[in-house]
Amino acid sequence: MQTRRLYIDPIHPETELLREGVKWLQAGELVAFPTETVYGLGANALDASACSKIFKAKGRPQDNPLIVHVCNRMMANLLVEGWTPQAELCIQHFWPGPLTLVLPKRATVPDIVTGGLANVAIRMPSHPVALRLIEETGLPIAAPSANLSGRPSPTKGSHVWHDMKDKIPLILDAGACPVGVESTVLDVSGGVPTILRAGGISKEQLEAVLGEVWIDHPSENQAPKAPGMKYRHYAPRGEMILMIGLRERVVQLMVEEIQRGHARLKKVGVLCTLESAPFLHTWLPDLLFVLGSEDRPEEIASNLFEGLRLCDERGIDLILAEGVEEGGLGTAIMNRLKNAAGQHIQFV
Ligand code: TXA
Ligand code: MG
Repeated sequence: MQTRRLYIDPIHPETELLREGVKWLQAGELVAFPTETVYGLGANALDASACSKIFKAKGRPQDNPLIVHVCNRMMANLLVEGWTPQAELCIQHFWPGPLTLVLPKRATVPDIVTGGLANVAIRMPSHPVALRLIEETGLPIAAPSANLSGRPSPTKGSHVWHDMKDKIPLILDAGACPVGVESTVLDVSGGVPTILRAGGISKEQLEAVLGEVWIDHPSENQAPKAPGMKYRHYAPRGEMILMIGLRERVVQLMVEEIQRGHARLKKVGVLCTLESAPFLHTWLPDLLFVLGSEDRPEEIASNLFEGLRLCDERGIDLILAEGVEEGGLGTAIMNRLKNAAGQHIQFV
């Protein structure tokens, strides 16, 4: 299948370009589109056969359910069986935006969307292209991140092109996604609201509105409540080590690893903060990618997946990544870094 890539204005999307997306979605085909978090691979959420194409294009396990994207409350009401007071509060404070709510589903939602679960995950994105596309299509849109399963999520049209070229008919390319990490997935179906996946809205932000919020920490013989969390994600091709600790120690360890890597003729890449970069560039890693300032986690979040993908593009064998402080958006960033490193972490 030939893939068209249309460049669309991220703030004032051109109606004729949106219509191209509407045409394919209404015909039961896949369209990749930007959201404020990452690019989504969209299909009509009410059409099981359209949704099955998502799993095929991504190579996604069937038991990993999809988030359904809506553009207004009425559309959400068609999908959700019962709203809880916590869900109402979340909608008031965080929609449209990077927060996905898990709630009891109506029979209108096909089983393939929820992986057979009784709950559906829904969110209202704030990106103008995403909102207008859903509005013009007039349908709820099921969309996972538009990457091949296991690979870093796409935050630029070029990332989607790389992973989905020849697999889908259309990519709406609006440049970089502003947030850069996926939405927070929050179970508000009853009881204490529980974070199933850390993301663009922090635990602290949620607690300010909801009071107590839990985090789903499945133990070893327990499945996570978000089925996707059990799979390896964001994996670059090279080996990756995440280093956590005082700057001085992290830098020292990175320098040692760069030298050891080079002695073995390995290409070594470094993903680090702006503050650490001056101490590392003189050691000539094959790639030095500055994620952003440690004082601006939103900057680090927006560059993270680009950094991981660049390591692959440059054929990096060993990736050394600097950890950031947990808490706020830092928790979502660290979750991605740990996952990308396959839990290969050094505390120094
Ligand atoms: O920001 C985002 O959330 C992006 C954009 C495109 O909206 N989407 C995204 O989708 O990250 P995906 O499929 O890559 O991740 C969805 C996560 C998975 O961990 C999945 O298991 C979980 O949400 N999930 C989906 N439906 C669920 C449900 N009914 N119950 C529990 N977890 C669910
Ligand atoms: Mg994903």
